[in-house]
Amino acid sequence: MIRTVSVGLGDRAYDVVIGTGLIDRAGEHIAPLLKRKRTAIVTDSIVGEHHGERLSVSLERAGVAVDIIVLPPGEQTKSFAGLADLSDRLLALGLERGDMIVAFGGGVIGDLAGFAASIYKRGIDFIQVPTTLLAQVDSSVGGKTAIDTPRGKNLIGAFHQPRLVLADLDVLATLPGREMACGYAEVIKYGLLGDFTFFEWLESNVHAVLERDTEALVRAVGRSVEMKAQIVAEDEKEAGRRALLNLGHTFGHAIEAEMGFGDALKHGEAVGVGMAQAFRFSARQGLCSSQDAVRAEAAIKAAGLPTRMSDVRPEPFLAEALIAHCGQDKKAEGGTLTFVLARGIGEAFVAKDVGRAALRAFLVEDGAGG
Ligand code: NAD
Ligand code: GLY
Repeated sequence: MIRTVSVGLGDRAYDVVIGTGLIDRAGEHIAPLLKRKRTAIVTDSIVGEHHGERLSVSLERAGVAVDIIVLPPGEQTKSFAGLADLSDRLLALGLERGDMIVAFGGGVIGDLAGFAASIYKRGIDFIQVPTTLLAQVDSSVGGKTAIDTPRGKNLIGAFHQPRLVLADLDVLATLPGREMACGYAEVIKYGLLGDFTFFEWLESNVHAVLERDTEALVRAVGRSVEMKAQIVAEDEKEAGRRALLNLGHTFGHAIEAEMGFGDALKHGEAVGVGMAQAFRFSARQGLCSSQDAVRAEAAIKAAGLPTRMSDVRPEPFLAEALIAHCGQDKKAEGGTLTFVLARGIGEAFVAKDVGRAALRAFLVEDGAGG
């Protein structure tokens, strides 16, 4: 079962191939894109252990020479130190400009290897082989690459589009349930931001997706990628419409920052709370109905994701601290607050100049300490 979505970026257009058995056929897909039959697979130790051998064998069967660089799993790898280590290892392999990096892992590996590809010898091609649901529906598509610094996440990076994305649904079999739920937050985001029919389908099929039913995954990943591809083709560098993909991310990021970006609260979980808050804030502002906010929250909760700040920790977050994080968001312009809000389910829009007083009142009403 294969579905292919094209990201229409002119001479940098590429396909996102979604389906089963793709790792075993990766060589057939990747070999025709190579100038010299030489690749470096970048992965983390968990993904490498589960699936690395199959990917190498598949490339070698297609006559492609493979080196594997295995990095430690976890967000801390997406750092200046991680980038220096990876760049040095690529140089030691003698990778040339015409060769290819294959990013094989979740968003951490995709973002880091993609950024390394954007600057290695002033830029070489790379392919994304995403192995988490989050990476398949979001981070592997669209060309955003980055590392974190102690001052914040994804602050140093580049737009560098991959040449191909191979999203093999079979690899999700080894993904922990908590990571599946985190990826689902990004899936339902597409329904909430722009496709009511998809949202309704997800309401009825949440368990099939989380239980990794192939047909349900093809539809969920396929529709998510289709929507992302369309938005990226219209607004590659996020001058406008691409910001819609950040639905729930400004609220979520503020809570994540307060929790210290650790395992206690994962990004997808923070986005779950953030999307529910974006709908509750929209309802409070009279932009959408309170029934829509209740329905959005129920659909997020059905995946086992948190939707309230009190689901994250019992002691209240401080409203002022949350507002300060919102002001540092990459969407913020000239000190004003920008949020993705909604006029209904499937009708998100970018709201510039959100008033601090209205935001503060909402956050206190929503459970933050005043
Ligand atoms: P991740 O890459 O850390 O993967 C999560 C965990 O799952 C890791 O421990 C990893 O080793 C493990 N794993 C991955 N695939 C597996 C598999 N098939 N089986 C078993 N274990 C597996 O996390 P993530 O959620 O994929 O990505 C999060 C990152 O993505 C963040 O750094 C975030 O900033 C970034 N991101 C980027 C974009 C973008 O547009 N570039 C979008 C969203 C998120
Ligand atoms: N994940 C948000 C974006 O790609 O723009």
